Amino acid sequence: MTSQTYLSELFSLGDRVAVVTGGSSGIGRAIAGALARAGASVVVVARREAELTVTVDELTAEGCRAAWVSADLGSRDGVRAAADKAAGVFGEPDILVNSAGINLRPPMGELGEDVWDTTMAVNLEAPFLLGQRFGPGMAERGFGRIIHVTSQQAHRAFVQSGAYGVSKGALESLARSQAEAWSPYGVTCNTLVPGFVMTPLNERLSSDPEKVAALAARTMVGRNGLADDFAGAAVFLASRASAYVTGQALFVDGGLSVH
Ligand SMILES: NC(=O)c1ccc[n+]([C@@H]2O[C@H](COP(=O)([O-])OP(=O)(O)OC[C@H]3O[C@@H](n4cnc5c(N)ncnc54)[C@H](OP(=O)(O)O)[C@@H]3O)[C@@H](O)[C@H]2O)c1
Repeated sequence: MTSQTYLSELFSLGDRVAVVTGGSSGIGRAIAGALARAGASVVVVARREAELTVTVDELTAEGCRAAWVSADLGSRDGVRAAADKAAGVFGEPDILVNSAGINLRPPMGELGEDVWDTTMAVNLEAPFLLGQRFGPGMAERGFGRIIHVTSQQAHRAFVQSGAYGVSKGALESLARSQAEAWSPYGVTCNTLVPGFVMTPLNERLSSDPEKVAALAARTMVGRNGLADDFAGAAVFLASRASAYVTGQALFVDGGLSVH
């Protein structure tokens, strides 16, 4: 067996269909690109069409199979419509990545029901509803991979964690509930846990050089995260290679969480 064949048997995503929410920006975009380059047909879901188009055009120009669906995952109807449209492109997905997320940070005392509801809808309910929509089919077919992107704030408070930290803590629990239900049928459910990653999500912090340097110093590697740091971990969790890894949180954070 050549090393190429060996690697391909472990990690190739050829013949797989993936849906990546938030796949038009930051971490989700890097993950969508990684899965597509590893052979999967990828549907990226987000709201803004311009960003979706640029992402998909870049991948198709490289010879990858990719498409986009514009949808607002902030409402249950929006999620249902997104799921139907996404499955309509390349068929029912084998891989679901939930990277769409928002981080609104009012001080705890001023955190109103609107911020709570919006945060829970996008960060927690959308992943739950997409899991309900796609998980049983994956189990029936005997293969599936559900990957949620959570946060260090699922594990500890950090710069006004508020509703965001709560949503991410619950998302880690959701991964374990899904893993318990569907792992016996070949569907693994795990989370990727970023530390501080330079993306549009945290522009306010990442545009302050002093804060950026202070956060980098808290890692072990000595720098903050880049979206592409998630490529290898995502391909691993989406591939056959991770069949015995389920219900786990994989920290991709340069050692931040253990420093
Ligand atoms: N960057 C970090 O340091 C960091 C740290 C910990 C965890 N995370 C988590 O990593 C994930 C990705 O974050 P990122 O930094 O890559 O952020 P990002 O660059 O802001 O990307 C967020 C993505 O989610 C989509 N999105 C947001 N609200 C949506 C909605 N209502 N409906 C559909 N799509 C929606 C956005 O597209 P549209 O705006 O066009 O809809 C975009 O594609 C998030 O879950 C975040 O909580 C990030």
